[in-house]
Amino acid sequence: MRAYRLDKTGGPGDLKLVELPDPAPGAGEVLVRIAAVSLNSRDLAVMRGTYGFGITLPLAPCSDGAGEVIAAGPGVRRFAPGDRVAATFFPDWRDGEVSASAVAASFGAGATGMLAEQVVLPEEALVALPAHLSFEEGACLPCAGVTAWHSTMAWHAVRAGESVLIQGSGGVSVFALAFARLAGARVIAISGSDAKRRRLEELGADATVNYRTTADWDRAVLELTGGAGVDLVVEVGGAGTLARSLGALKVGGRIALVGVLTGRGEINPMPMLRKSAHLYGIRVGSREMFEQMNAAISRHGLRPVIDRVFAFGEAVAAFAHLASGSHFGKVCIRVGE
Ligand SMILES: NC(=O)c1ccc[n+]([C@@H]2O[C@H](COP(=O)([O-])OP(=O)(O)OC[C@H]3O[C@@H](n4cnc5c(N)ncnc54)[C@H](OP(=O)(O)O)[C@@H]3O)[C@@H](O)[C@H]2O)c1
Repeated sequence: MRAYRLDKTGGPGDLKLVELPDPAPGAGEVLVRIAAVSLNSRDLAVMRGTYGFGITLPLAPCSDGAGEVIAAGPGVRRFAPGDRVAATFFPDWRDGEVSASAVAASFGAGATGMLAEQVVLPEEALVALPAHLSFEEGACLPCAGVTAWHSTMAWHAVRAGESVLIQGSGGVSVFALAFARLAGARVIAISGSDAKRRRLEELGADATVNYRTTADWDRAVLELTGGAGVDLVVEVGGAGTLARSLGALKVGGRIALVGVLTGRGEINPMPMLRKSAHLYGIRVGSREMFEQMNAAISRHGLRPVIDRVFAFGEAVAAFAHLASGSHFGKVCIRVGE
């Protein structure tokens, strides 16, 4: 079978397509024929060596894959050949609160990643795909989907009538828009592109602001909320946006700290204190969150928004597309035929 490998950190340009022996499942494991993979900013950071969490080389890239179970090892009970599945981001976080052991290992940061024709996975690290989704759509769920669900629905869940600020039109934010709307929230979105703002509005954003042409977008968001501020910010920007997110926040509001797209830096505690802000770091989420999200996706017939699907041989071009920031929603790779 064919799989991508990275022998050294540098970037996706260092990816190599290699031929490996077909893997076989051991006890409690299944063999999955991967049909589609979705790309995340995190996968880029892993390959560039800037991830900030442990990685091992040679690296099997990508956390997010979906496919079909084609063989089951001894003792497997949860899945059987023919089942359509996706892997969780963290193989060991099944349910409950986050803990050091739950997030110690993640797919796509070491020996097991999804950018391969076949992958052996522990059955406990799998969830069933919603029946109405294609493999490409299913592959969008493990990182961006679960992170957005965790941020909006699993911890201090959004209540109907609340207001939610999302940042940009990438994988996490477009999912967060869908989930916040599902909860009955008013959604305000910022984007650096007017064309993307229009698409966000078509997907249900109640108001949008261009953060490039309106540098003080926090004031614009305050105005859009009658001066009160939003109840929740799904923060993907990091150091370059956090101060304005706090400015746009309601007193007593909350910030789900997800990403660092603009980089890392110092935090001034004063605005946090002044706003009595609740700031909580998000690490993707548990299998239980994934299953709850899938139940909602199935019940409401939701579909992930896919920007573009690349062929298996085009992995480097797919990552270059993600890195360009021109995408809207998710970027995928189709694996196999
Ligand atoms: N903590 C976790 O568990 C977790 C999980 C998933 C992702 N993440 C992190 O979350 C971040 C987003 O991930 P993703 O996969 O959704 O990324 P993505 O698909 O690459 O989305 C990037 C988008 O963010 C927007 N953006 C960039 N700079 C911005 C700024 N200054 N202000 C507002 N929006 C800005 C842009 O949208 P426009 O073009 O519309 O402006 C850009 O297209 C990354 O840092 C990622 O590593 C963390």
